[in-house]
Amino acid sequence: MKTALYPGSFDPVTRGHMDIITRASRLCDALVVAVMHNPDKRGAMDVASRVQALSLACAHLPNVRVIAHGGLLIECAAQTGADAVIRGVRPLGDFETEYQMAQVNRELGGVETLLMATSPAYASISSSIVRQIAAFGGAIDSMVPPEAAACIRASLAGQGR
Ligand code: COA
Repeated sequence: MKTALYPGSFDPVTRGHMDIITRASRLCDALVVAVMHNPDKRGAMDVASRVQALSLACAHLPNVRVIAHGGLLIECAAQTGADAVIRGVRPLGDFETEYQMAQVNRELGGVETLLMATSPAYASISSSIVRQIAAFGGAIDSMVPPEAAACIRASLAGQGR
């Protein structure tokens, strides 16, 4: 595949996201990671901080580029010339939502979605758990990419109080 698009909220990026990014980057010439808006989520980190954390975490992957996109996923796919969208699925609960999003994006924009199984080691990690622990000053290092830990900690510190 020439270009793949991996969209998400990345609020913040976790080791689970990095598992998908690393494996997907081996399947395509170029992987575009897009920080997007999920209207169902309020958002804790600002978009610039999310892009910064992802850029630090992906710096060692030469064919990965990080962008921010404020519109629809199908518009982002068209603008980046993506051949397919990649999404990760965890064993419990992700499939139904991902299936619906994949169908809608294919019907609306002709965009194909490939679902990748998240590695079991990361199945219990989620951005909201990281946000909650960081907000109260807990240790998030085992859940986030090491290159981005300081950036994420600084951005989320004190939000629980
Ligand atoms: N391992 C572990 N956890 C993972 C994971 C993985 N491989 N992949 C995702 N997750 C977790 C995240 O940590 C996050 O946890 P949280 O719910 O506790 O915050 C959750 O799964 C999903 O987050 P993420 O993948 O970062 O983003 P999202 O599902 O919020 O992204 C968009 C959704 C942004 C792609 C979608 O809302 C979108 O396309 N928005 C643009 C508007 C649009 O086009 N809407 C129509 C869509 S049909």
